[in-house]
Amino acid sequence: MCAKMMDALVKPSAGPGLELRQVPVPQPGPGEVLIRVHKTAICGTDVHIYNWDPWAWDHIKPPMVIGHEYVGEIAELGAGVTGLEVGQRVSGEGHITCGHCRNCHNGNIQWCKNTTSVGVDRDGAFAEYVCIPASNVILIPESLPEDVVAFFDAFGNAAHTALMWNLVGEDVLITGAGPIGMIAVGICKYAGARRVVITDVNEYRLELARKMGADAAVNVSREDLGEIMTKQGLVEGFDIGLEMSGSGAALKQMISVMRNGGKISLLGIANQPVPMDMNTIISKGLTLQGIYGRKMDNWHQMSYMVQGGLDISPVITHRFPYTRFEEGFAAMNSGRSGKVVLDWTRQ
Ligand SMILES: NC(=O)c1ccc[n+]([C@@H]2O[C@H](COP(=O)([O-])OP(=O)(O)OC[C@H]3O[C@@H](n4cnc5c(N)ncnc54)[C@H](O)[C@@H]3O)[C@@H](O)[C@H]2O)c1
Ligand SMILES: [Zn+2]
Ligand SMILES: [Zn+2]
Repeated sequence: MCAKMMDALVKPSAGPGLELRQVPVPQPGPGEVLIRVHKTAICGTDVHIYNWDPWAWDHIKPPMVIGHEYVGEIAELGAGVTGLEVGQRVSGEGHITCGHCRNCHNGNIQWCKNTTSVGVDRDGAFAEYVCIPASNVILIPESLPEDVVAFFDAFGNAAHTALMWNLVGEDVLITGAGPIGMIAVGICKYAGARRVVITDVNEYRLELARKMGADAAVNVSREDLGEIMTKQGLVEGFDIGLEMSGSGAALKQMISVMRNGGKISLLGIANQPVPMDMNTIISKGLTLQGIYGRKMDNWHQMSYMVQGGLDISPVITHRFPYTRFEEGFAAMNSGRSGKVVLDWTRQ
């Protein structure tokens, strides 16, 4: 019997680029679910894989289908799957965890020591169908717009980082106005922050962060953050810092403008080791928290925040049918983009 075929974006071999190819539709094994993909979003990780940079050489074993930000509907249930139905609207947690290590047992699956990733370690979602374990399937209310749910994975990184701390009445500094930083602006305002200031060196992205509700969006290559803080009425410094750039310079600046007792969560991944101003961290009594992935509860928070009125659609700057994926990656590589959404229901 011939396997049913589907379109997919495949990294065919070591080197730059992706190929739109016909590959077999995956078969859900016991405990797995097959999802018909409707929309996907391009993540920075996908751009690393597309460009084939040193991170990609280390992590990707071609040929494979990439992609991990998506929304779709359940197409088929593998043997033994209960509590889910064909046709339900879903997304999926991209980290597949072991279920038996200490962190899996205590509910902190984001710290599983045996985690593997959809679209990095196994075939991903830039395809008409993707197959994942049932426990990774996330039900999504029908009322939520699919364009936005397509990048709930990235929204989840922003939610995990921002909601690590109580934000009510607090002054927040976000370093890095990439898609995740922009979304974090909206979350912080929604969650009750007083002032949200975001920094970047890219004007296009700072403008999107303003659309997301930033009280100030500061281009640190030519503006003085201290002056902006004075204008915003920040006397003692920032209460909360969200590092979302991966830049050592941004972290250094953040540490210098935190108030004593301030709290920082670190999401941005640096290309090289970053020197830390230990003495300032100590004398200010700062708390620094590393953030990896999402908590499973973040998925519920995201749906409820959107239903409660948080609009993250301003971060979408480009929409293409999947056959025009090259234009999507070009937009991401140009630096003049927020989120790029690919539609897998039309060619
Ligand atoms: N920890 C995790 O689980 C996890 C998950 C997803 C993404 N990430 C990381 O989070 C970060 C944010 O993701 P993204 O997709 O929005 O990334 P991105 O690369 O699109 O955005 C980073 C932004 O930081 C800006 N920047 C560079 N230097 C700066 C400086 N000195 N001050 C302020 N801004 C500066 C860049 O111009 C860019 O707009 C990235 O580093 C990414 O690798 C981590
Ligand atoms: Zn992602
Ligand atoms: Zn585990």
